Amino acid sequence: MTEEIFVSPAESARQYGFTEKVRGIIKEKYGDPKVFVITYGCQQNEADSERLLGIALECGYSRAEKAEDADLIIINTCAIREHAEKKALSGAGSFKKLKEARGDRVLAVCGCMPQQEYRADQIDKSYPYVDLVFGTDRGHLLAEMLYEVLISGKRRRFVSDLPHDRLGVIAEDVPVCRESSYKAWVSVMYGCNNFCTYCIVPSVRGRERSRDPERIIDEVKSLVSGGCRDITLLGQNVNSYSGGIGFPELLDKLARIDGDFRLRFMTSHPKDASDRLTDVMAAHPKKIARHFHLPAQSGSDRILKAMNRRYTREKYMGIVKKIREKLPDAAITTDIICGFPGETDADFEDTVSLIREVGFDMIYTFVYSPRPGTAAAEMPDQIPHEIKVSRFSRLADIQNGISAGINERCVGKTFRVLSDGDGTGRSSQNKIISYDKVLPAGVFADVKITEAQAYALKGTIILKGQEKA
Ligand code: SAH
Ligand code: SF4
Ligand code: F3S
Repeated sequence: MTEEIFVSPAESARQYGFTEKVRGIIKEKYGDPKVFVITYGCQQNEADSERLLGIALECGYSRAEKAEDADLIIINTCAIREHAEKKALSGAGSFKKLKEARGDRVLAVCGCMPQQEYRADQIDKSYPYVDLVFGTDRGHLLAEMLYEVLISGKRRRFVSDLPHDRLGVIAEDVPVCRESSYKAWVSVMYGCNNFCTYCIVPSVRGRERSRDPERIIDEVKSLVSGGCRDITLLGQNVNSYSGGIGFPELLDKLARIDGDFRLRFMTSHPKDASDRLTDVMAAHPKKIARHFHLPAQSGSDRILKAMNRRYTREKYMGIVKKIREKLPDAAITTDIICGFPGETDADFEDTVSLIREVGFDMIYTFVYSPRPGTAAAEMPDQIPHEIKVSRFSRLADIQNGISAGINERCVGKTFRVLSDGDGTGRSSQNKIISYDKVLPAGVFADVKITEAQAYALKGTIILKGQEKA
């Protein structure tokens, strides 16, 4: 790891200076300046948006209820599949009316989509009303970028032209405005080195880089002492964390922090899922959630190889076996791609059999979407859309049955649930459970399951003194 990936304290101080400058300009320009952030994509993007919002508030904006009321609107985009990009582009298209209604507001598009040069060019050409475009490694510079736009009155584009093998920084000391008071994302590492052949993430998020463990521990401590109850450690490849210690050691240290809270983490890559990780989870049954999200992508060794996943089905099943032995009450969930180039009926049947063999609590199934610039997009034997979709539906049907069976076996059991304040909450396994009373958000309660459906569990709250099932 080289030093230059860390944004220096001097640079953070310089950015703080820009927040002061922006504050003065926008107060005069708008009177009561407001900001609205729209987020597409994964948890990493949600975490990034909380930082963008944090900086905007530092600059003197307050939060708008809806985009129409805002003087600064930011769309944080995703590029993982074509559908995600279409949504982001249509979001940018909706800016046209907003700009016509009020020409003095600042409209920004950022995140993974414009990190691809051709998309940034497309926004320049086809979305002339977008004032500010920036990539994934520039979010911490929001105050400076806003200042440039506000004083020049011109469009600005800040997308790194570094090759993606040098893309990405770690910016500490960025203000964060979290959406929830009792749940939080904590990024522990950024970027990805894996280059799965279908995936755009390594190109738009740059190389793997890990935060200093002490910074992470301090952040988690301060969240816990502020009343946070559910903390998800984030990384594109979270278990390849290497900040001087490995991911299992980091998790162990965090689980030793005093307080009533749960740790989650995502996303784990099977090639980095060590025995040590399951051992640490087993050692902290209360603090570390009983949930393992372990994307398999396919059940066929041939396809796994073509995807460059660097594990076999046998290795994957070995990890599952370990989890079942050491963490018998853990939920296992996965991601599956249907219709990767060259996927034959026989390959797909291997995926079906993997799903049956593991008995996942839930699967997130995706139709393969060719991403320009990735190796798989150039492969021969692209699968026709109808076949991809029919495979997708078949997996959904099979999984419905499996999930229903798992949920039925939950009836009569008691789960410790963290309330979301609306009569539902989440168990350690990350299952949504609804119950008979409305509890305040962020409160733990024991709930005995009385009824199960494929993707829903219902129960009654066990009051203290009542016996546990
Ligand atoms: N870093 C995580 C998440 C990556 S994106 C991981 O490695 O698991 C989340 C999921 O999107 C992936 O697991 C994969 O199933 C899916 N995905 C990624 N690229 C895709 C593409 N081009 N088409 C369809 N699904 C894709
Ligand atoms: Fe994409 Fe693979 Fe990296 Fe996940 S591990 S972000 S799927 S390249
Ligand atoms: Fe999408 Fe970027 Fe996340 S491409 S899935 S928002 S890392």
